[in-house]
Amino acid sequence: SEKDLEAHFEHTISKDQRIEPRDWVPEGYRKTMIRMIAQHAHSEIIGMQPEGNWITRAPSLRRKAILLAKVQDEAGHGLYLYSATETLGADRGDLTERLVTGRQKYSSIFNYPTLTFADVGVIGWLVDGAAICNQVPLCRSSYGPYARAMIRICKEESFHQRQGFELLMTMMKGTRAQREMVQEAVNRWWWPSLMMFGPPDGDSPNTAQSMAWRIKRHTNDELRQRFVDMSVPQAEILGVTFPDPELKWNAERGHYDFGAVDWDEFKQVVSGNGPCNAERVEHRRQAHEDGAWVREAAAAHARKTQEVAA
Ligand code: 3HC
Repeated sequence: SEKDLEAHFEHTISKDQRIEPRDWVPEGYRKTMIRMIAQHAHSEIIGMQPEGNWITRAPSLRRKAILLAKVQDEAGHGLYLYSATETLGADRGDLTERLVTGRQKYSSIFNYPTLTFADVGVIGWLVDGAAICNQVPLCRSSYGPYARAMIRICKEESFHQRQGFELLMTMMKGTRAQREMVQEAVNRWWWPSLMMFGPPDGDSPNTAQSMAWRIKRHTNDELRQRFVDMSVPQAEILGVTFPDPELKWNAERGHYDFGAVDWDEFKQVVSGNGPCNAERVEHRRQAHEDGAWVREAAAAHARKTQEVAA
């Protein structure tokens, strides 16, 4: 009976075990997993745009090769995650339609412009660093396919984060102009990176349920704090500062105190009014349209091989 199925689901979660595609799940669990994984996949695909902007203008062949590899990784993460949504009955064509018509979200962070090459390093160091903070706990998420996808993705994100930090270290050992370029990029990306973790716990409609279902293992504020604590020592090694006068170690708490995030800016960017939202979504829409012939050809080929096989 449905009651037994519900009991089995609750028992699996309470034992910290994995929910697999064949298992019965409450409709709310399916809905929120599709929502979260689809928006994560959309973030990976949209995230290729700000970084891709510098592939043709990288300062050396080495930097170009690294950036190319990173952007290709992001594409792979997106496709991996769309496959995970399909285990929940979602259709990736439908998800793309929701993305390009603004009915599904992607991470706010990719709505900011990449103005100098230092942005490539800062995105690797801070944005991929924040992604790692947020995604390592998701390796223990209750939904099996998502948790397993996170293990592979986190390994590749670590490469992304290290290459970003190394790129910045190189620039910080360069000219004054290069050091200023790095600091200016850090000033632009620090606060938007903190927004990646989502609204404060008190304004997060999904966190309580996601924690109860062990989809999320930590709240938005806990992970944001972990990211700040991790980033300050790295900034000191790099020789840059964060644009927050209230950032300082609090021995009592054993954490860094930091200033207030501009949640109005967050709401503006999430609701489509960030610096680059229109161009990011339009670019994705156009790319999807331009790729229609490939999908049609692949479908025609699949039909032909099925006819031959039949
Ligand atoms: N940008 C856009 N929307 C955001 C957001 C952000 N930074 N933070 C929160 N939101 C949205 C949520 O999606 C939710 O809207 P919805 O109900 O329509 O989906 C609303 O704001 C309220 O937020 P909640 O905290 O209640 O939502 P969640 O419990 O889903 O928490 C989250 C938000 C922390 C982003 C969580 O969904 C999550 O951990 N997702 C998986 C990781 C992920 O998607 N990371 C994206 C980072 S980009 C990336 O990893 C690419 C890499 O290459 C850098």
